[in-house]
This record gives sequence, C-alpha cells and structure tokens, in this order.
Amino acid sequence: MAVLGIETSCDDTGLALVENGRIIFSIKTGQEEFHKRFGGIVPEIASRRHLEVLPHMVQDLFNRISPERIKGIAVTKGPGLIGSLLVGVKFAEGLAMGLSVPLVGVDHLHGHIFSIFLEQKLGFPYISLLASGGHTALFLVKSYINIELLGETRDDACGEAFDKVAKMMDLGYPGGPVIERMAMKGRATIELPIPDLGETLDFSFSGLKTAVLHRMKDIEKEAFYDLAASFQKTVSEIFKEKIKKAVSLTGVKRIVFCGGVAANKTISQELKEFCLNLGCQFFVPSPYLCTDNGDMIAYLGEILLKLRGGDKLPIDVYSN
Ligand code: KG4
Ligand code: ZN
Repeated sequence: MAVLGIETSCDDTGLALVENGRIIFSIKTGQEEFHKRFGGIVPEIASRRHLEVLPHMVQDLFNRISPERIKGIAVTKGPGLIGSLLVGVKFAEGLAMGLSVPLVGVDHLHGHIFSIFLEQKLGFPYISLLASGGHTALFLVKSYINIELLGETRDDACGEAFDKVAKMMDLGYPGGPVIERMAMKGRATIELPIPDLGETLDFSFSGLKTAVLHRMKDIEKEAFYDLAASFQKTVSEIFKEKIKKAVSLTGVKRIVFCGGVAANKTISQELKEFCLNLGCQFFVPSPYLCTDNGDMIAYLGEILLKLRGGDKLPIDVYSN
C-alpha cells in the first residue's frame, strides 16, 4: 500500500512515498537560511515557508509517480509548532479528499521511534533513546501501538542544548552539526557537571548548558574547540548512564538511538561501544532519517492505516 507522508512539525518540509515499508520517493526542503540570522526558528516564517514549498514538492512527486498509486496519506499531527503543523495537516486533508484516499495523523515522536525499521530489521521490545530539538526521552517500545515513557527531560531538550551552546559561541543555527565539527578539532579536557537526578530516568540539560556558559568566560577563544568536545562528551556520558539504568530496570537489551542528535557520529559511536560492552544490541538510523523527514511519517502511516484505517477529519493538531 503506497502511503504519502507529510512532515511539517518544525522547520523542515518532508515528503515521502513508502510502499510495503520501503521508500519509493523522498524529498526534504530545509529553511536554515531563513532562520539563521535570528539564531533560532521563527514560527511565523516556518509556517509560511511550508505553505510555499509544499505544492511544488507534491508536483515534483506527481511528475514522477502517478497520483493513482497513492492509497493513503499520513501527516504529522504533533507535537511541534502549531502554525507549521496546521499547514501540513490542512494541506494533507485537501489532498486526501482530492485523491479520495484515507488520511492518518501520526505523532512526530512515534515517527522518530520507528524510523529505524526503514533500514534495519529488529524485533520488539526495544528501548528507544529519542534526542531531538524539542524532546529528549527514553521509551520502552513493545509494539507499534504500545509505547511506555520511561523518562524525559525536565528542562531543555538535548538538541536545544546543542543549539543554545552554539548560539552562545556565536556559531549560528542549528547548533548540533557545527558543535560536532568543532568538537572534532578539540579534546574533551574540560570537566562539566553530570546532573544527579537519582534513580529516575529523567534528563536535565539546562545545568550543563549554563556550566558551558560559565566556562566560556574564563577560557581563550582557541579553547572553544575543547569546550565543544567536552560538552559533547558529557552528553554521551549522560546518555550512557541512562541507558544502563533503563536496561537494568526493564531487562531489555536492544537499544535504538533516534532523533536529530542521533545524527551525531561521535555520540552514536560512543553509545554503540558502550551498549555492546553492556551486552546489548545497538541501532541508529542513518543521519538523514535521524533528523526530521517525511519517510518516517509515511512508514508509520502505512502501518497505522493497515492496523486501524484512516482518521475522521478534521485532524486535531497539538504542540506538546
Ligand atoms: O529531530 P530533529 O530534526 O527535529 C526535532 O524534532 O526537533 O532534531 C533537530 C535537533 C536540533 O536541535 C539540532 O541541533 C540537533 O537535532 N542535531 C544535532 C546534530 N544534527 C542535528 N545534534 C548534535 N549533533 C548533530 N550532528
Ligand atoms: Zn523531530
């Protein structure tokens, strides 16, 4: 069943066609150049850009694949920026009516959690460590519809901490890739605090971000490379501690790392070694599938349409 996925929860417009769990067509339009000078995402600009590019992207798809082949549509319904979500959902509703196919609303976080299946075969249950710009959480994933939250961030999301640290260092937006590049030129020699949240599986990144800000004040600019490496290393250490606790709590030895931060090669390599030493399997999607994309929405949409059919229109959106 070929399902079209539409993702507009934040600043990336993603469109993809997935059939029987495999990607047939995929495109993504970023907006970095429009938000860069503001040092973060401006919601109004984001929704306007989605509105501008979506019709062209769909036309691009229809130039290659006949619309009759599309048997269902999946669209991100939340969490995300309300204006951006509304553009995607209203566009998808119109398209579904025009093509007379069912439409299903997909949770963005669930999209990330199951994106791994587009590339690798694994079974349930697994522990999902999701780290993106808006969320950081651990889930016990028992099936496509049975997902248990084990812990989540109490303040900043991990990707948000990357973005804020990059902004403090005047490196622009988004912060993740630029901090990763800086860290490659530095050494993790600067000690930074790992939050002590006791036995909980919750996260906290705002103290780490503030500590980076304080250290910036008493080091030379050349040492920013070391600070970036130290920040990134501390993030890895926080993740390792939580993974270990989640494995001992659940007894599940299959770990999937996902979301924008999972595109970080250094962190995912460190986590992989850690998990293998712990006797666990470790999975991470390729960088394109870690960041926001329409593929993961189409993938889960196809599963949900087969399991329970389309949703009643209109589809409600939610920010969090
Ligand atoms: O999943 P995503 O594309 O969008 C959200 O759902 O939020 O994640 C975006 C976040 C941004 O905060 C970005 O800085 C971070 O993922 N990110 C990275 C890397 N690439 C993207 N963080 C660390 N290292 C990277 N290579
Ligand atoms: Zn995301």
